[in-house]
Order: sequence, then C-alpha cells, then structure tokens
Amino acid sequence: MKAVRYIQTLGSVRNYYRSMNEIFSTAFGKAHMLHYPFYLKENETLEERQNNLVDHCLTYIGDLKGKHMLEVGCGNGLNCHYIDLTYGAEHITGIDLNQENLAIARTHHENERIRFIHDNAQELKNIPDQSVDVMICIESAFHYPDKNAFFKQISRVLKPEGVFLIVDIVRSPGDAGKSLWFWKKQKLLFHADEKEYRQYSSGNNLIFQQVENITDRIIRGYEGHLSWIKRTNMNLVHYLLMKIFTGLQVRLNVAQLRSHKQYMLFYGRHANSA
Ligand SMILES: C[S@@+](CC[C@H](N)C(=O)[O-])C[C@H]1O[C@@H](n2cnc3c(N)ncnc32)[C@H](O)[C@@H]1O
Repeated sequence: MKAVRYIQTLGSVRNYYRSMNEIFSTAFGKAHMLHYPFYLKENETLEERQNNLVDHCLTYIGDLKGKHMLEVGCGNGLNCHYIDLTYGAEHITGIDLNQENLAIARTHHENERIRFIHDNAQELKNIPDQSVDVMICIESAFHYPDKNAFFKQISRVLKPEGVFLIVDIVRSPGDAGKSLWFWKKQKLLFHADEKEYRQYSSGNNLIFQQVENITDRIIRGYEGHLSWIKRTNMNLVHYLLMKIFTGLQVRLNVAQLRSHKQYMLFYGRHANSA
C-alpha cells in the first residue's frame, strides 16, 4: 500500500504533499517543513538545513517585533511555528490551498499569535488591504498559474512600508519550460523565470531591492542525505521504500537545479516607498 501511495505522488500535488508529510513523520517521528534544504555547514540534519533556509530569508527582513507577518503557501505550518519561536512576530497568518496541510498546521501550531486560513495566493480573499508588514512565500509560487494575480495581491495587502520576500524555483535563462506538459499540469508546476518575475513586480507597483541566486546552497543542502533517514521503528520493506523514494526525489531535484532551474530569492517593497 505504501508503494502505491508513493507512486501516486507523481499524479497530483495533493498526493505529493500527503506522501511528504507521511514520509517525514515516519522517518523523523515528527512533521518537517516541506521545502528544500539550505547548506550552512557539514553534517547537518535535514531539519537544520530546512531551518537554515528560513533563517536566511529572515536575515533580509530583520526585526519582527510588533509586526504582522503573512506566510503565503504555509504548508503544514512549521515555518510559521519556527518563526514564532525564533523571531517572535506579533501576529502570524499562514494561508494555504491544501486542506490536509492546513489540518496539520492547525492541530500542532495554531495559538493566540498564529492562525491558519484556507485561501488562494492569487486571491487572498481573507487578507484585508494594507494589513501586512511582512509577507513571505517560501517555495510555493511555482504552483501558481497566474503569478501576476499573486503580485497584485501582494501589492494590495502590504502596508505602505511593508516588505515581501519570495523564494522560488524558477526557470534558468533559455529554459522554455515546455516538457512533460501533462505531468506539470497534474502537479501544478508553473515555473516563471527571473525576467517574468521582474515584470510581475514592476507591473504591480512593487520593486525588488535584492535578488539572490541561492541554487548552489540548495544543491549542497542535499549533501549527506543518505544518512538522514534512520531505520527506527519501520519494517525493512518500508525503510527501503522510503530510501528509494527520497533518493529519487533528491536526484530529481538536484538534476533540475543543475540543468534548467534556479533557486532564487526576491526581496522587495512598494516601488514608491523604496
Ligand atoms: C513546497 S510546499 C512549501 C510549504 C511551506 N512554505 C514550507 O516551506 O514548508 C508548497 C505549498 O504551497 C501550497 N500552494 C500551492 N498552490 C497554492 C495557492 N494557489 N495558494 C496557496 N497555497 C498554495 C501547497 O498546498 C503547499 O502547501
């Protein structure tokens, strides 16, 4: 059954996140963030490298005291939880389309400072105009078919002095992004390139103050991945299955980043407040 479930991850974005949550919980005894790892030093765990990516993003943003942060595409809520514990924003809202991820987030991480809402990044129906000091979007925007609508929402919900930060997997220059059309549609993969990102930003009265290519750090983040999954309380078949699944996943992610994708960070604000 597990094998069938893992193969199904190829079929849809919902199955993919269900399997990822299950694999992380089984392998590590608790949920993990759902994004790629970021290398800082040798012999780090997957969890440390996932935290590293959030920390790297937060170096751009600075002090969160008294701020309202919005995480768009918050997944299972672990980023919001980590930011709450580590950086202490006044209030954090996480929104996501996936109800299973939201259920995990609400069960484990909702408290008086953090709330999770079902919403679409391209609509943000539940987020009032000019209500957000800091918006972050970590490895989610490649799922949005209409990124211009997303940028329009950023422009609408940010306070005049607010800032936003997006990390996303984008197409490298020259990658037409036309292969595997059916698969991409099922998995909701709509990678933009940096040029398109700049157009969406300037077209919605936003400006990037910093753009950073962190592809090398992400590729190195996978170093040592074979030692991450330990055979704790799993039977041998399940353990081997997970090793195979994660091995394939890592190879696929790294191969993409070495050939036709880049992992980019975009930090910006309203153009007239820069
Ligand atoms: C790779 S996960 C990242 C989750 C989280 N940001 C993290 O870093 O762990 C991408 C998330 O984006 C969400 N997502 C995809 N399309 C979305 C949309 N249109 N609006 C809101 N969330 C979306 C998915 O449901 C998934 O939870």
